[in-house]
Amino acid sequence: MPITVQQLHPVFVGQVTGLDLREPLDQEVVVAISDAINRYEVLVFPGQFITDEQQMAFSRRFGDLETTVRAYRKDFVPRLDPHIADISNLDQNNSVRPKDDRLRLNALGNRLWHSDSSFKRVPARFSLLSARVVPSEGGETQFADMRAAWDALPDRMKSRLEGLICEHTQLFSRARIGFTDWSEEEREKMAPVPQVLVRTHPGSGRKSLFLSSHAGRIRGMEEPEARMLLLDLTEFATQPQFVYTHKWAVGDLVMWDNRCTMHRAREYDETQVRDMHRTTVSDGVPTVAEAA
Ligand code: OGA
Ligand code: MN
Repeated sequence: MPITVQQLHPVFVGQVTGLDLREPLDQEVVVAISDAINRYEVLVFPGQFITDEQQMAFSRRFGDLETTVRAYRKDFVPRLDPHIADISNLDQNNSVRPKDDRLRLNALGNRLWHSDSSFKRVPARFSLLSARVVPSEGGETQFADMRAAWDALPDRMKSRLEGLICEHTQLFSRARIGFTDWSEEEREKMAPVPQVLVRTHPGSGRKSLFLSSHAGRIRGMEEPEARMLLLDLTEFATQPQFVYTHKWAVGDLVMWDNRCTMHRAREYDETQVRDMHRTTVSDGVPTVAEAA
């Protein structure tokens, strides 16, 4: 066994030690990490003080990386490589963004439960988030186990959900917090994409609820009914027994499987710096094609 995994939550989340992610890894270790994430959904690697280059190299062992979506955000001046999502409260000069900053307000949407890039036809498979600077308190990330939530649903609900197709867009998630400051061009680029509501996780064969704050409609269902169903399911799936709260230390790298988890950021004192860098491994095929 080339890695050591300690379970951090009763149903999911493993902490992996005995590895230095700055170094190139043997294929045997990559396979062990893949097996571990298939089992635990979320892996915590403490004490990994890696650079962006090292984080990209490690992430690429698991597939192709997404690039950040610039087209939606014309005022975005990048601070980092296009393969690194800037999960910070900093602008291009490394200054804390002011309260009314448009990108800050948009990023507040990360505090809604979501699965990364579910607003893209091909969503994210893995996300890898590394903590470079953390606030003195708050700013945790919470994860919810969508396979355990699926397992716990009553059979009647399971049969109601099988085969349903949702529509996801950032327009839906941002509208929930009253963020509607989009240009016509941005709105066009953010047209809703279809995602199945129930997935089978390839690495475990287990079923999973595929929920996200970006989901706002269900095909063939009246909108209020669809919204209410999605709200009920999200509430059900994020009960405490399915949720792990990660309190960040600088050097932590957390890798999660977006196919079978949701996550959200928690609030903190935004006069302090919080600087997190995310790489994202694309899932390769649309969920509707995968299911067919
Ligand atoms: C993300 C994300 C949550 C956080 O990186 O995809 O949602 O706690 N982050 O910053
Ligand atoms: Mn996210």
